[in-house]
Amino acid sequence: MNARESITPDPTAAMAFVPYDRPVRAAFIGLGRIYDLNVLGYRDNPDVEVVALVDPDSERLAQRRADWPDAATFASAAELAASGIEVDAAEVLLPIPLHTGGVVEMLGRGWHVNLQKPMCNDLLDAQRMLDAAKGSGRVLRVMENYLFYEPLRRLKAVAESGEIGEVAGYHMKMVGSGNGGWDVPWSSFEWQLEQIRRGRGILVFDDGWHKLSTALWLFGPIKEVRSWIGTTSFGSGIDLDAPTMIAWEHASGVRGVWDITLAPDLYLRSDYYTNDERWEITGNTGFARVNRCTGRGIQQPSLEVYSDGEMRGYHALDDDWASSFRDSGRHWLRWLRTGEGPLLWSGEAAISVLRFALAAYASSAAGGVGVNPAQLV
Ligand SMILES: NC(=O)c1ccc[n+]([C@@H]2O[C@H](COP(=O)([O-])OP(=O)(O)OC[C@H]3O[C@@H](n4cnc5c(N)ncnc54)[C@H](O)[C@@H]3O)[C@@H](O)[C@H]2O)c1
Repeated sequence: MNARESITPDPTAAMAFVPYDRPVRAAFIGLGRIYDLNVLGYRDNPDVEVVALVDPDSERLAQRRADWPDAATFASAAELAASGIEVDAAEVLLPIPLHTGGVVEMLGRGWHVNLQKPMCNDLLDAQRMLDAAKGSGRVLRVMENYLFYEPLRRLKAVAESGEIGEVAGYHMKMVGSGNGGWDVPWSSFEWQLEQIRRGRGILVFDDGWHKLSTALWLFGPIKEVRSWIGTTSFGSGIDLDAPTMIAWEHASGVRGVWDITLAPDLYLRSDYYTNDERWEITGNTGFARVNRCTGRGIQQPSLEVYSDGEMRGYHALDDDWASSFRDSGRHWLRWLRTGEGPLLWSGEAAISVLRFALAAYASSAAGGVGVNPAQLV
C-alpha cells in the first residue's frame, strides 16, 4: 500500500473487522442513474451474492429486478430489515441529502456500508457517520471510483517513478456542458437543487469531490486552500457554481490548481456525464497528462508523457470511465473477503476530502484567503 493512499489511519475498521469466508450478502439501496455503473462491480463476481434491492420507486425496482431475479425487492431498508433476510453489506446509492440518515440507519442495522460520494455536507454529519460505524463495529467506506481509473493510476505511477523528474506542480481542468451524454432523470435534479440551496453545488461539491480526492491521493495532505467560486444562474434556482478557480498547497510543498469552466451549449461526446476533464502534472524534466475521463473530450491517448524531448502515448489503457466503478466495487467486495489494502476511502479518510471542499468554500467566502482544512471546525 502506498502511504499516500491512506490519508488518515482508520484503526477502527482494521481492528473490528473479520473478513467473510463466503460470498458477501449485499443489498442495493437506491436504484437510480448511478446504479447502472455501480452494478458492474457486482456482476459475475463470486465474492458477492446480491440478496435484496431497495427503492421506493416501483418502476426502478421492476427494472433492476431483471438483473437479479433471485433478489428480494423492498420499498425501504426498514422493510428489508423486517423481512429477516440476512444482509452483510449495503451498496448505498441514495440522493446526497439522504446520506447521513441512511448511513447511520444501515450501520445501526449491522450492515457494512459502501457509500457513494460526496459523503455528506458538513463535519457534524460526517462525525455522526463515524460514530455510527464505531458504535456498530461495522465498516463505512466512501467509494471513490476515480482512484480506480486506469489512466489516473498510471499518471500517479509515472509521477512517483521519477520519469518526469521532481514534481513541480499540477493542474486539473473541467469544462461542464449540458449538451451530450446520457439522460439524467429530473428526479435527480430535484435533490441537486436542494443541495444548491444548501450551498453545495454540482460542480464544486458533487463532481468536485472526485477532483479533490485525486489531489489528496496523488500528493497527500493539504495545508492551505485558496478559492474563488463563481455562480452562473439559469433561473428557477438552477445556480451552477462556475466559473471557479481553486488552488492549494500540499504539506509536501507541491501546489495544485483546478479550474472549472461552464460551457452549457458545448457538445461533448460522452457515454455518461458531459464533463471534459484533464489532469496535468509538471515535473522538472517533463510532464504527464490525462486527457479525458468521464466524457470523450480530447481524442488522443488517454495518458501522454513527455520527457527529455520525447512524447509517449498510452493507447491501450482501460479508459472507459465505467471500468473505474467496476474496479472500485470489486475492490470493496474483495476487501470484505480479505480485509487487505486501503479502502479508498475509509470513512475517516473521506473526511479529508470533505475538509478540502469546506476549506474551498470558506476561502471563497472570505475573499480568497488561505484556509487550512485541518483547522475547520
Ligand atoms: N461516482 C460518481 O461519479 C457518481 C455519479 C453520479 C452520482 N453519484 C452519486 O450517487 C448517488 C445517487 O445518485 P443518482 O444519480 O443515482 O441519483 P438518482 O436520483 O438517479 O437515484 C437515487 C435513487 O434513490 C432512490 N431513493 C430515494 N429515497 C430512497 C430511500 N429512502 N431508500 C432507497 N432508495 C431511495 C430513488 O428512488 C432513486 O431511484 C448520489 O450520492 C450521487 O452523488 C456518484
